Amino acid sequence: MSSVIGVEATEREAWQAPDVTRVRVALAGCGAVGSALLREIDARRDTLAGRHGIEVELTRVLVRDVSRQRDARFDTALLTSDVGEFLAAEADVVIEAIGGFDPALRISQATLSRSRKLITANKLLLAQHGTALTSLARAHATTVRYDAAVGGGVPILRLLDEALGAGGPSSVRGILNGTANFVLTRLENGASLDEALDEARCAGFAEADASRDLDGRDAGDKIALVAWTAFGVAPEQLSVRRQSLLPEPDRYVALAGRIGRRVRQVAECTIVNGYVIASVEPLLVEAQSALGRTADEGNHVEVFVGWRAPLCASGPGAGGLPTATALLSDLISANAAPRRTRSHHVALADTRRFQWAVEIRGNASALHRAVPNCGLVHTTTDAGTSWTIVEAATPDDVSLIAGRLIGASPIVARCAESIL
Ligand SMILES: NC(=O)c1ccc[n+]([C@@H]2O[C@H](COP(=O)([O-])OP(=O)(O)OC[C@H]3O[C@@H](n4cnc5c(N)ncnc54)[C@H](OP(=O)(O)O)[C@@H]3O)[C@@H](O)[C@H]2O)c1
Repeated sequence: MSSVIGVEATEREAWQAPDVTRVRVALAGCGAVGSALLREIDARRDTLAGRHGIEVELTRVLVRDVSRQRDARFDTALLTSDVGEFLAAEADVVIEAIGGFDPALRISQATLSRSRKLITANKLLLAQHGTALTSLARAHATTVRYDAAVGGGVPILRLLDEALGAGGPSSVRGILNGTANFVLTRLENGASLDEALDEARCAGFAEADASRDLDGRDAGDKIALVAWTAFGVAPEQLSVRRQSLLPEPDRYVALAGRIGRRVRQVAECTIVNGYVIASVEPLLVEAQSALGRTADEGNHVEVFVGWRAPLCASGPGAGGLPTATALLSDLISANAAPRRTRSHHVALADTRRFQWAVEIRGNASALHRAVPNCGLVHTTTDAGTSWTIVEAATPDDVSLIAGRLIGASPIVARCAESIL
């Protein structure tokens, strides 16, 4: 005991601030994330220098409209809307916080081709071009880091990359889209879809068009990056089974309530018989489970590594500040390239059997006809809605059932923990 205390005291006395290296940073994008990053760099100068040995020198800031007021303190003479001028700036690191493909892809390719380090929050870009960009980085002896692209402030990729030692997960699942979760929890509390979306936009969690969030495409891009990190499968090659919450997410909330559960948009990638399967879907979870208790813009991820319980990470999954914090931590560790080693192949189909809730508009007869061995069917008192539980069906089986019910506006949702 005393020797431990003695060692700590000696180490503290011997500790010296690291030498400070100047890092020239060119920032593409100064919106919610980019401006939060500049505020963080400004507020944390002392810690960056004293603890991490970095002094950030901002060399250029690319935006669309240079005349717009920015919510950060910096030399506005650095602003440009000209991509060529931006790329010509001196920089050791380029941080891309624009989003979308163009000019983000051009900037990323030019950055890596010039052997500069690239840090990006752009999951769309990485899900489509991740392998090509990391190959380009390798060819030019530089690195691309993108922890901010998944989980906002929740360091999911870092957890998978660095916290598991030599062990690998068998499955990773979680709530990866803060906007969809915000909307679902507002609907649970009685808001309409329009009210929930308006509130999400006012809070800065949702863009004008939230369809990529609600139909699962955004979470699909993120789970592809998670699968890349966890299992080494190229994100462009992974096919993600995706079930949308649209057009009526409130129907999933009501269906979950009918069977005493909550609905969450859950993304998952898992190894089944040695192959990788990935999905994004409305999952019916126990209200008291960690997924069920994740509210508002929260993200929650569970990594299954064969321990008694999964390794979990939770926190704000959206918003400028949490995302900027992840970019800053990438900047601090920009010298190390994350490893991506292929250890598994992508599966052609998910043949596992689950329990599902199936709901239709109208009375029970259509369900009896469409569902093989249909069990108990419930109908609301006005006979406007009927639902049943389908046991031991694969995702393909349940798609067939939904196809047979198409005239009755079916929705289907998998029940969590129901693998059979
Ligand atoms: N917001 C979040 O909560 C969050 C969370 C995780 C990841 N991300 C990711 O972070 C990235 C940035 O998101 P954001 O929310 O900060 O977006 P944003 O608020 O819309 O900001 C985008 C910035 O890029 C600039 N820009 C857009 N198109 C441009 C063009 N063609 N040329 C030059 N500049 C251009 C805009 O300039 P103007 O300001 O002049 O229009 C703006 O400064 C995206 O990849 C997003 O997916 C965001």
